[in-house]
Amino acid sequence: MMYLGQGIKACLLLLLPSSIPVLALSTPTTVFTLPGPIAPASWFESLAVRPNGLILATRGDAPEIWQIDPATGEGVLLVSVTGAFNLTGIAQVTMASHHQQRPHAQTAGETYVFGSAHIPSPNQVEPGSAKVWTLQFPASTTTTNNNKNTPNDTPPIVSLLTALPTAGFINGIASWGANRILLSDTLAAAIYLMDVRTGAYTTPLTNLTGVNGIQTAPGYVYRADHAASALSRIPVDSDAVATGPAEVLASEQPVDDFALVVDGDGSGAGRAYVAALYENRVVEVVFGPAGSPGTGTKRVVVEDVSGTGTGFVSVAVLGRRAEDAGLLYVAVGQGGGSAGRCEG
Ligand SMILES: *[C@@H]1O[C@H](CO)[C@@H](O)[C@H](O)[C@H]1NC(C)=O
Ligand SMILES: *[C@@H]1O[C@H](CO)[C@@H](O)[C@H](O)[C@H]1NC(C)=O
Repeated sequence: MMYLGQGIKACLLLLLPSSIPVLALSTPTTVFTLPGPIAPASWFESLAVRPNGLILATRGDAPEIWQIDPATGEGVLLVSVTGAFNLTGIAQVTMASHHQQRPHAQTAGETYVFGSAHIPSPNQVEPGSAKVWTLQFPASTTTTNNNKNTPNDTPPIVSLLTALPTAGFINGIASWGANRILLSDTLAAAIYLMDVRTGAYTTPLTNLTGVNGIQTAPGYVYRADHAASALSRIPVDSDAVATGPAEVLASEQPVDDFALVVDGDGSGAGRAYVAALYENRVVEVVFGPAGSPGTGTKRVVVEDVSGTGTGFVSVAVLGRRAEDAGLLYVAVGQGGGSAGRCEG
């Protein structure tokens, strides 16, 4: 979420080759830059990687979702959302299917949830403007050969899931089991649990000042706190209600959104890749099993992401396929009006 920031300019999407297993600093590569003039400010708010490797990017300065092919660097305007002003978080949802999988179906359809708000100017959110939407790719458009931004694709379907007139600012979104998502509300300092079939929701987590990006792993909600510059995790039950105190994994660390990798052994140990706001860096946080004393270990994995010495890193996501599992994609806005590497 960038609306609390200032001086956001332009937009880059960067690919950090092999940044994950490598101990040295990684050099980012520009994948895609939004076309058009750098001013007025344009920015990507959130990213989601599709199973086919394409990246969905929500724009904070327009009601648009772009689809970017990191293999070619091509990006296309995938959908313009009628009835929205500024898009926020996006995440894929696990849909429980009532149908038997067809024997020859290569890939099921995909459903994503994204948020919107009306942000007339930085730091100003129109009260009552929060909405939650679905973006659905029918199964027929997601065959395994569909690895291109081909114009003949059946366009995905955008639907309003629900308006949330009593919410503040829907920021981060994370999957929470079949048909359910968690939504962070930065202004209400809360996390909602929503059924994506009905839009009905509960508010299992409150008093979360500064809540921004959220991620989930079995038994835990991980959350950024941009107000306290901290990353923490909260042990929760199946309805995302806290079952114990939060554990701080990183402190004194500017953080917006982050990517999460949790070890497969169920211990709770893992790593986060933090989009470090105006530090213009990506910081890795390695943390221990549940209940480990102290915070995790921080390490800068990419310095000067924008390449211009100034910029704002808002989100980091990891590739999902075997061939891009070691890739981290981040979005960065240029600060200070510098055109820098925006030639894309
Ligand atoms: C929000 O979106 C509108 C267009 O829908 C745009 O004019 C405005 O600048 C955006 N706000 C920010 C902070 O980018
Ligand atoms: C809210 O959180 C603060 C700091 O994390 C804590 O001191 C306070 O007791 C909490 N309030 C409630 C009502 O839980």
